[in-house]
Amino acid sequence: MLKTRLLALVGSALACVVGVVHAQDTLALTVKSDQSGPMISRQIFGQFAEHLGRGIYEGVWVGPNSSLPNTRGIRNDVVAALKELRVPNVRWPGGCFADEYHWRSGIGPAAERPATLNPNWGGVIEPNTFGTHEFMDFVQQIGAEAYISVNVGSGTSKEAADWFEYLTADQPTTLAKERAANGHAEPFGISYLGIGNESWGCGGSMTPDYYVSQLRIYARYVRNYNSRHPMKKIAVGPEGGDTSYTEAGMKAWKERNWSWDIDGLSLHYYTVGGWPPSYKATGFGEDEYARLLKETLRMDELIRTHAAIMDKYDPEKKIALVVDEWGAWLAPTPGSKEGFLEQQNSQRDALIAALNINTFARHADRVRMANIAQMVNVLQAMLLTDQEKLVKTPTYHVFRMYVPFQDATFVPIQLDPQTYVHGEVEIQRVDAIAARDKDGKVWIAIANVDPRRAVRIRIASGDRKNETLSGETLVAPQIDSINTFEAPNTVAPKPVTAKRTGGAMTLELAPASVTVVSF
Ligand code: AHR
Repeated sequence: MLKTRLLALVGSALACVVGVVHAQDTLALTVKSDQSGPMISRQIFGQFAEHLGRGIYEGVWVGPNSSLPNTRGIRNDVVAALKELRVPNVRWPGGCFADEYHWRSGIGPAAERPATLNPNWGGVIEPNTFGTHEFMDFVQQIGAEAYISVNVGSGTSKEAADWFEYLTADQPTTLAKERAANGHAEPFGISYLGIGNESWGCGGSMTPDYYVSQLRIYARYVRNYNSRHPMKKIAVGPEGGDTSYTEAGMKAWKERNWSWDIDGLSLHYYTVGGWPPSYKATGFGEDEYARLLKETLRMDELIRTHAAIMDKYDPEKKIALVVDEWGAWLAPTPGSKEGFLEQQNSQRDALIAALNINTFARHADRVRMANIAQMVNVLQAMLLTDQEKLVKTPTYHVFRMYVPFQDATFVPIQLDPQTYVHGEVEIQRVDAIAARDKDGKVWIAIANVDPRRAVRIRIASGDRKNETLSGETLVAPQIDSINTFEAPNTVAPKPVTAKRTGGAMTLELAPASVTVVSF
């Protein structure tokens, strides 16, 4: 019997057992408190909400007549949970959806809006009940800024220009009056304009040069008329390691004339491990765990590659690299609708989130915005919902724990990360960043990637020898542990405190854990 149970344990996911910490498992981390790097823009904690599956409909929007508690049709529980994350910006309406979206379908009385189709995502009917005003209401309710991607693929520059006049004009133009008639007399403030989406793929399969010709036109004519609310323009950039869009976009920008400009170039990179996505969201073993983490760490190499090209044309780093789609793209939840991209979210996703955020922070001089895909019920989501039920995912907890890093100043550290080896995978065992917030408090985020061995970190920090160190740690019974509606707190942060031993603060990190502490 015992043998059977042991075999079952070996065959299933790896349990994160906190073992004895050996001498070789003690690492030294020095926070160079006397040094400062760039600001870690809070915009790297942005979200992405596409009209896809149950991301908007059910996930955010239930409609004002729903029996679920809502404010003007938007779920109260979702808003409350997202407010805790201090979401800086939300990218909408897509994704591939954006290049087939016609904004006029989503304004005016709900009953008069057309039913259209969503051919990218399940071919379902798009009711258009969540449109411009509902999106702006939503971002206002959660306290985020709006990042709107316009249709370059199947729309026109005139259509996009009209939308932005409708949104932002403060003079009584016909479009501004229409906005007022639809309930919003004041111009909206739009912080970010996305000029197309994946124009190399679902956004029109455009060659880099063709896209650049469109970019020049859209960047000129899609205007922000709200002088009290500045807006940045983001061009479509590379997919993964392909540098053709980076070269073309940056060269065009360098050679631009007075009539157009941009502020950012986007990068999309998913942690997927091959198409179609086949890595299981739960019920996986150490092999899939290790491979996917290695895959996610490619983000650093990609940023370096594209940043080097950007440096060539823009040594002053005026143009931001905006990683506006990132995250784990796994095999869909069995039984979920095709094209809805629903997947569970495990402790492995928590590590994926932490490793990517740490990477963005280390490139804070160039990466000044990022959007995880996607916010609710789609891909690496913060929240999963089912009717009246809502559960916070491990990824949600990471985003909540990292809130102090929003707009904090990067502080260099010294750390021997050691190596975690599994089969052919060799990656860093520990990954960490530090930052100083506006009140002068120093924060450290540390991921222990190793799913088998706990580590002890001896933390030294020049000017803060005698202080305590405390915070939260996200650990899980197993690497594939998930939160469900029935058991919502299987993966939840727990308080952690460092002990002072022999002149340094010592923090013990469980296997496969994410920890955020402050002095
Ligand atoms: O996030 C899902 C899809 O992935 C987006 O619509 C598209 O931009 C990307 O390919």
